[in-house]
Amino acid sequence: MEPKTNTDSGHAVSRRDFVKGTAAVVGSLMASQFPLTASAYYGVDDTIKVGLIGCGGRGTGAALQALSTTQNVQLVAMADAFRDRLDESYDNLTNPEFEDWSGQTVENSQERIDVPEEHKFVGFDAYKEVIPLVDVVILTTPPGFRPIHFEAAIAADKQVFMEKPVATDAPGIRKILEVAEIAKQKKLNVVVGLQRHYQTVYREWIQRIHDGAIGEIVLGRVYWNSEGVWVRDRASLEEKAGRKLTEMEYQMRNWYYFNWLCGDHIVEQHIHNLDVANWVKQANVAEPGTEVHPVRAQGQGGRQVRKGIDHGEIYDHHFVEYEYADGSRVLSQCRHIEGCMNRVSEGFHGTKGTAPKPGELYDASGHSIFKYRDKDDPNPYQVEHDELFAAIAAGEYKYANAQRGAFATMTAILGRMATYSGKVVEWEEAFHSNLSLAPERYAWDADPPVMPDEHGYYPAPMPGVTQVI
Ligand SMILES: NC(=O)c1ccc[n+]([C@@H]2O[C@H](COP(=O)([O-])OP(=O)(O)OC[C@H]3O[C@@H](n4cnc5c(N)ncnc54)[C@H](O)[C@@H]3O)[C@@H](O)[C@H]2O)c1
Repeated sequence: MEPKTNTDSGHAVSRRDFVKGTAAVVGSLMASQFPLTASAYYGVDDTIKVGLIGCGGRGTGAALQALSTTQNVQLVAMADAFRDRLDESYDNLTNPEFEDWSGQTVENSQERIDVPEEHKFVGFDAYKEVIPLVDVVILTTPPGFRPIHFEAAIAADKQVFMEKPVATDAPGIRKILEVAEIAKQKKLNVVVGLQRHYQTVYREWIQRIHDGAIGEIVLGRVYWNSEGVWVRDRASLEEKAGRKLTEMEYQMRNWYYFNWLCGDHIVEQHIHNLDVANWVKQANVAEPGTEVHPVRAQGQGGRQVRKGIDHGEIYDHHFVEYEYADGSRVLSQCRHIEGCMNRVSEGFHGTKGTAPKPGELYDASGHSIFKYRDKDDPNPYQVEHDELFAAIAAGEYKYANAQRGAFATMTAILGRMATYSGKVVEWEEAFHSNLSLAPERYAWDADPPVMPDEHGYYPAPMPGVTQVI
């Protein structure tokens, strides 16, 4: 029998009741009758059960961060499209020596992980099995699945941590926004892994920009120029499997290179910098909490080095000029090519000064007015989980990040539409586009929406020809 504690009103409500379904406790009429306070939920069975959906590199890291919070968090269920990915993640999480790519480890992880064989689920429907077993879901599959998984999690009254991007096309964005509204009504916490919002240097820097330190923002410059990411090539995958893969299996493994799964690298990685641009531009908005986004974009891009049969359909560079409603511009560049200038950063220019990179502000004469010293900055990946689980444990509703995640993702999709088409693309037409990238059927024998030609190559977008709306 689960211990109970009392609310202010004297009615017994367990913290598990809150975690299991805030909607049932807070979102209903009861909320006004029996207001909850943080202190209402200590001293009870405080286990917060977590389910991981998408057990790859980031999912394993996010689970590790959830388990590293000070709350009593337990990983109890896991889902992945592929059994070997799930096993690898489980083995890593239960290995005391394991560090994720950010160098983080978790203490006592073995005690905090209780995922019996019958709680390990595989395949396209695996998420459906995990969700009922847990209080919090971690959604870390490729972004093409995020709208489906988010909708299922919120329908089941679960609290959510989900990675960016939150979709790969406009119908997916609209689904996320629709579900975000339901999550708000149900008072379910939703944190999106745009971790700069949980990073002290960005918080301190952008707060000062919002407070007017450099005046109105007239220009932004945002970059994700790097050497690129992994390729999971068909030959090696088939050699490992000892058989030919179906086209669906291959694309699911090598997902980065297919837009229905990834959205192109402008969406998958550069979203972070475009999100910062929208965040900074909120300085010019009178109404707090309003999501700011560009009103149109034009740009160019292409494939200089991504020419092989395992490079799918995505570009390796994009340059986009975004225009905001006040006429200001944000210039965005992202590149995945080795041997070039690498830069992942943001800079802004205002009517009274400049913010050339995160943590620095200068007045119009070039004198430093702010320099952030970040020696002891906590890991933002950890902070986003610390804050989320602290809120959940306290019975608080504090995080509604889905809308921000949707606008940041849509900003990146708008850029992709501009570079693929070579045309000026209006936010309104892009946002309302019914062009869905999703396959008709999710099954290992189903055809994905883009198929290779007889030589194994995929059609790449061609400016002036490709239709994007
Ligand atoms: N915030 C950040 O800095 C950051 C860093 C890395 C990755 N990410 C994001 O995390 C997500 C995952 O990236 P990753 O690097 O971990 O990729 P990954 O390939 O390592 O992991 C993805 C996992 O999801 C599984 N999967 C695919 N479809 C699934 C489905 N329908 N159901 C269940 N499992 C499914 C895959 O088999 C794989 O194991 C992406 O959205 C990525 O953009 C964010």
